[in-house]
Formats: sequence, C-alpha cells, structure tokens
Amino acid sequence: MPTRAPSLDPSVSAPPSVLIAAGPTHEPIDEVRYVANRSSGRLGIALAQAAMQRSAPTTLLLGPVALETPTQDPIYSQTDLANADPEQAPDSPLVVRRFRSSRDLESLLLQEAPDCDVLIMAAAVADFRPARVHSGKLPRTGDALTLTLEPVPDLLAMVTPKLKPSSVAIGFALEDDVASQERALAKMARKGCHAIVLNPLATMDSAGIDATILFADGSPALAPGRLSKEDFAQRLIDVALGLWATARGDTS
Ligand code: CTP
Repeated sequence: MPTRAPSLDPSVSAPPSVLIAAGPTHEPIDEVRYVANRSSGRLGIALAQAAMQRSAPTTLLLGPVALETPTQDPIYSQTDLANADPEQAPDSPLVVRRFRSSRDLESLLLQEAPDCDVLIMAAAVADFRPARVHSGKLPRTGDALTLTLEPVPDLLAMVTPKLKPSSVAIGFALEDDVASQERALAKMARKGCHAIVLNPLATMDSAGIDATILFADGSPALAPGRLSKEDFAQRLIDVALGLWATARGDTS
C-alpha cells in the first residue's frame, strides 16, 4: 500500500497547541462501583510526550489509569476536577487534567477544545452508562440486580463543530476486524475528523499497536506495521502537525 506522511517544516510556524484525551472512563453505578473498559492510557501518555518533544503546548485529559504521566518539568497535574484551574500554570508545556466519567470528560473537552489547534481523541469513552447513580453503596441482597444503561453522547462528534476552522481533529476507531476500513471511514466523517486511527481490539491494554491511519482528504492510508505505542505516538504527532500545517495553508 502506498504511504505518504504529511510533513511539517518547523521553521514555518510556532508549534500548535495540542489537546489529547486518553484512558478509559469509569461510569458510576453507586459511590463504590463503576462500569469501565480495559484502556490503559499508555498511548495517550506517549502522544503527550511526543507533542512536548516538539515544543507544542500540550494538554492531556487523562482518565483513571495507574500509569505515571510524563516526567519532564515543569509539569502541572490536576487530580481533582472540582479544583481545576488551568490558569494556575499558563507557561507549563504540559497540563494534565484528570477525569473519571464521560460526564467529566465532556465538561473538560467543552472547556479545552475550542482553543486547541490539534485535538487527538484517544480516550476509550464508554458507549453506555448507568442511567441512575445510586447514593452510597448498594447493599448485596442475594437477588439479581438489573442495571439500566443509557447511551453516552458521542463526545468527539459533539466537540468537533466547536473547533477553530484551522484546527485539526484526529479520532480513533477500535474495530474487531482490521479490514473494517469502511466502518472507520464512516466514523471519521460522522465525527468530523481529519484523520482516524483504525486499530484492532488487541491494542487495548497492550504495549504495541498495529494501526492504520486514514485521511478524510483521500490521502493514502499510513500503515506502519506493529510498533511500540511510543514509536506510533511519534508518527501520529508528526501526522497531526503536518495536517495542521496543511490546514493553515503552510507550504511544507
Ligand atoms: N468516542 C467519543 N464518545 C463516545 C464514544 C467514542 O468521543 N461516546 C470517540 C472515541 O474517543 C474515538 C472515536 O469516538 O476517538 C471512536 O470510538 P469507537 O469506540 O471506535 O467508536 P464508537 O463511536 O463508540 O462506535 P462503535 O462502538 O459502534 O464502534
């Protein structure tokens, strides 16, 4: 398959601001239990690191994962959404804002996305959440418990119309069939993305990734083969910066 990566001449312009959402969401059942998925957040952290290495002001919206965030200084980390105040660290190359549920992530995206130049939506957002969150801890009665799940809004589709016209959005398509490019292309269009990363279910919670990057403008797909998530993150950030330069009309 022919491949072509959009390129960026760093001398042309200052690096764009990059917003990355990564990790799973925890959808509460009560104050103790939740519905979740197996996302590790590892790729998102590698993406933040790669963006920082290119001096891009970077914000990482990170879900409930056990991994360490990038260690470069200065780092500004917020673990409590209620105390979130990004103004406290205007000069940090990396701002980490933590979320737990899809509602938290929705609120952070609506705050952060309108100002970003590049959005990379790698979060494994739940598709369904308990319709009712019980207060306290549901007691075990010995009877079956039936949970009613309601659909979670498509956060990426919600937020792309709020981006600046010059901004670039990249989504992910987790598919159980690597040949399902048509589904991924439809997702990309539905969610208003410039590119989408088609990756197999095996990517979840794994150290490697064997993904294909598809482009909305019809550019040939990029399929670099199996890579570590860190190496793939470097490639994807280059792609994102190249798309952004093209969207702004920069020549490269
Ligand atoms: N996504 C989102 N909000 C959701 C679900 C997904 O913003 N409620 C985003 C993901 O972060 C990812 C993209 O949409 O960038 C595709 O996610 P994926 O789970 O592959 O697709 P879905 O839209 O959930 O569709 P399906 O489950 O039918 O494959």
